[in-house]
Amino acid sequence: MQEVSPAGLAELEGHELLLGKDPTGCDAAVCYLIDRIDEAFLATPGLRGLATVSVGLDHIDLAAAERYGIPISYTPDVLTEATADLTFALLLAAARRLNEAERYLRAGRWTDWSFDLLLGTEVHGKTLGIIGPGRIGRAVARRADAFGMRVIYAGRERSELERVLRDADFLAVTVPLSGATKHLIGAPELAMMKPGAILVNSSRGPVVDEAALAASLQSGHLGGAGLDVFEHEPTVNPELLKCENAVLVPHIGSATRETRDGMARLACRGLAQILRGERPPNLANPQVWKQPAAN
Ligand code: DGY
Repeated sequence: MQEVSPAGLAELEGHELLLGKDPTGCDAAVCYLIDRIDEAFLATPGLRGLATVSVGLDHIDLAAAERYGIPISYTPDVLTEATADLTFALLLAAARRLNEAERYLRAGRWTDWSFDLLLGTEVHGKTLGIIGPGRIGRAVARRADAFGMRVIYAGRERSELERVLRDADFLAVTVPLSGATKHLIGAPELAMMKPGAILVNSSRGPVVDEAALAASLQSGHLGGAGLDVFEHEPTVNPELLKCENAVLVPHIGSATRETRDGMARLACRGLAQILRGERPPNLANPQVWKQPAAN
């Protein structure tokens, strides 16, 4: 169980705070993306609000929140730039094989400069496909533009997705996880990608079929991958761990001091507003605001 950071707690001054997993007796709760907020949690008598210190909402039963009239404060916008930075860092790291190069150096294997040592691929002039043209996708696109890349987007249409898969040299997955996006990128989609293409995922692990990705990396079809998120966090598919051409980091997309403080503040401020009966600007489910709470 994780404490709420001081920046968030300051927004809740004046409220009695308890640390625990059971919301019985509480007016409201603060959670992280690792907490499963199910119907039983949301049905807790007296619960009037929830804050999640995340922009992703896939850990929350949103239908149940609507049924029980629980408004949810979340953290859009505040983490966009940090997550886009990390996404682009993974793209560059995979393109230039930074993880392999660092392992090589630290292992003491660098004995001489060599003309063709650890050759990577350029990003300049290449095409970046963005799956999910939302806030983070567009922020990644701005970075790609500055690096001289051509950017193409895929929204909800299957035909758009296939065009992007076929045309992209790099693919950034920034779409939220839902029933419709689980395994959106599986074996057939990976097979459509260009030989040598690089995939970066900073959204949610289950959007990409990890076993299929590992197989594609191992077969040499994909040139590399940069992953911040995994299907069964914190467990990482052992087949992915074997892939030298995958840069793997532990869900740190928004992990800067500034952004994490901003997220905690925004989520908790929204919750304090809910408790005062004020509609917060960062309400994930505005439709419940009109409805009287069911309990
Ligand atoms: C979120 O907020 O959903 C992110 O995954 C955390 O970085």
